[in-house]
Amino acid sequence: MTKRQLKLGANLNGVGNSISFWRHPEVPINASVSLDFYKKQAQIAEQGKFDLLFIADGLYINEKSNPHFLNRFEPLTLLSALAGATSHIGLVATLSTSYSEPFTVARQFASIDQLSGGRAGWNVVTSPLEGSALNFGKGEHPNHALRYEIAEEHLEVVKGLWDSWEDDAFVGDKAAGVFFDKEKLHTLHHKGTFFSVQGPLNVARSRQGYPVVFQAGSSESGKDLAARSADAIYSAHETFEEARAFYQDVKGRAAAYGRESEELLIFPGIGPIVGRTEAEAEQKYQEMAELVEIEQALLYLGRYFDHFDFSPFPLDEAFPNIGDIGSNSFRSTTDKIKQEAREQGLTLRQVALRASTPRTSFIGTPEKIADQIQQWFEGEAADGFNVRTVVPGGLADFVELVVPILQQRGLFRTEYESDTLRGNLGLAVPDNRYAVGR
Ligand SMILES: Cc1cc2nc3c(=O)[nH]c(=O)nc-3n(C[C@H](O)[C@H](O)[C@H](O)COP(=O)(O)O)c2cc1C
Repeated sequence: MTKRQLKLGANLNGVGNSISFWRHPEVPINASVSLDFYKKQAQIAEQGKFDLLFIADGLYINEKSNPHFLNRFEPLTLLSALAGATSHIGLVATLSTSYSEPFTVARQFASIDQLSGGRAGWNVVTSPLEGSALNFGKGEHPNHALRYEIAEEHLEVVKGLWDSWEDDAFVGDKAAGVFFDKEKLHTLHHKGTFFSVQGPLNVARSRQGYPVVFQAGSSESGKDLAARSADAIYSAHETFEEARAFYQDVKGRAAAYGRESEELLIFPGIGPIVGRTEAEAEQKYQEMAELVEIEQALLYLGRYFDHFDFSPFPLDEAFPNIGDIGSNSFRSTTDKIKQEAREQGLTLRQVALRASTPRTSFIGTPEKIADQIQQWFEGEAADGFNVRTVVPGGLADFVELVVPILQQRGLFRTEYESDTLRGNLGLAVPDNRYAVGR
C-alpha cells in the first residue's frame, strides 16, 4: 500500500470571505475582479505544490452581502483563465445543481478538463439562499430535501454524459475517412423526475476520465450525496473532535455504498494565521478582529440564516431562540451555530464575532500550525485541507513557512506526482461505463 499523503487546496476569494478583510490596508480593493491578483495567488499555490485551487460561489446578493460576493468572477470563467497561467495545480469551480442544466454543466466541466489537460473539478452545491430563485425564473426556491434530490439526479446525468464517448472513440483515420467509431459513441436517453436529457455530449473525456467531484454540504442529505457520488468533500469544522466525528461518519457511509476510504477525500476548510512568533500571529489576528464592527458581524451571521435580521435582538443576552430559521438555508452550519450557542451559553454578540473572526487552533507559529495539520491528518479527521486566506499574504506565509515543515516531516509532496488532478489526489480514473460493459 502506498503511504497516505496530505492534500492541500487553496480557497481563493479576492477581498475575502469575511466582511471586513477588504478594509485592511494591504488588501487590493479590486482583488475579487483582478485576474492579476488571482494569477499571483494561483502561482504561489503551485509553487507550494498545492493540489488544487478552489473557487466558491453564490447566486444571490443583496445590500447585506459580504463585499467579495458583490462583485466577483464566475468560477469556471476565472479558472479557464487560470488554466493558462498554471501547469499542474487542479482547478475546482463551484456550480449549483439547483440552478443549472446538466447538459451545460457536463459540457463546461468537460471543456475546462480538456483545456487544462485533466485538472478540472466541480464543487457541487445546492444553493442555500432563497433569493437565488428570483434570478432564474424557475419558480420557487426548492426546499433543502428537494434540492438534494435534484442534486442526486443532476450529478448522475452529468456523469452519464461524460461517458458519451469512449476514450478511443475518435480514430481520425483520414485515409479511410473515419473520424470516429460509431460503436464507441453512446446516447444517454435520460428521463427522470427532474431532467430529461438525450445526449450524447459534444465533448469527449479528458485524460482523467471525469473532472473530480467535490461536494460542499454537511447535513444528513449532504453527507449521503457525497458518500454515494463524490470524490471529495469540502467541510467546515473548528475542532479536531468535530472534524474526526464527521470524517468517521462520512467514511462509514461511503463504505456502506461499497466504496473504499481513499475514494472519498475529506477537506476541512481552515484559515491559518501564521506568525514567526506566537505574538506575531496573535497581532495579525487582532488586526483583523479590530476591523470588524458588530453591525457587520450580524450581517455575516445572518447570511447563513438566509439573510435573517439579527439586529433587533439584544447583543449581550443569550443567542435568541429563532426556531427553524436557517434549516432551509445553510442547514448544517446553522444547526451547529444554534447548538454551540445553547451548549456554551453564548450571547448574540459572541456568536456573531465568532462566526466572522473565528479563533481557531490554526493560529500561531509555523510549527504549531504544522502540528495541528499533522494531528488532524494522522488522527483521521482530514485527508487534506482547503486553505482560506484570512489575513493579507496568508497563502504566501503558509507556502513559505508551513509547507516546508510538512515536507520535512514527509507528510506533503516536494514534487507533483502527476499533471492531472486525479493523479495528484491519488484518485483512480473512472472507467467509461460502456467500455467496461463491452
Ligand atoms: C463548507 C461549506 C461550503 C459551502 N460552499 C458553498 C458555496 O461555495 N456556494 C454555495 O452556493 N453553497 C455552498 N455551501 C452550501 C451547501 O452547498 C448547501 O447549499 C447548504 O449548505 C445546505 O446544505 P447542508 O445543510 O447540507 O450543509 C457550502 C456549505 C458548506 C458546509
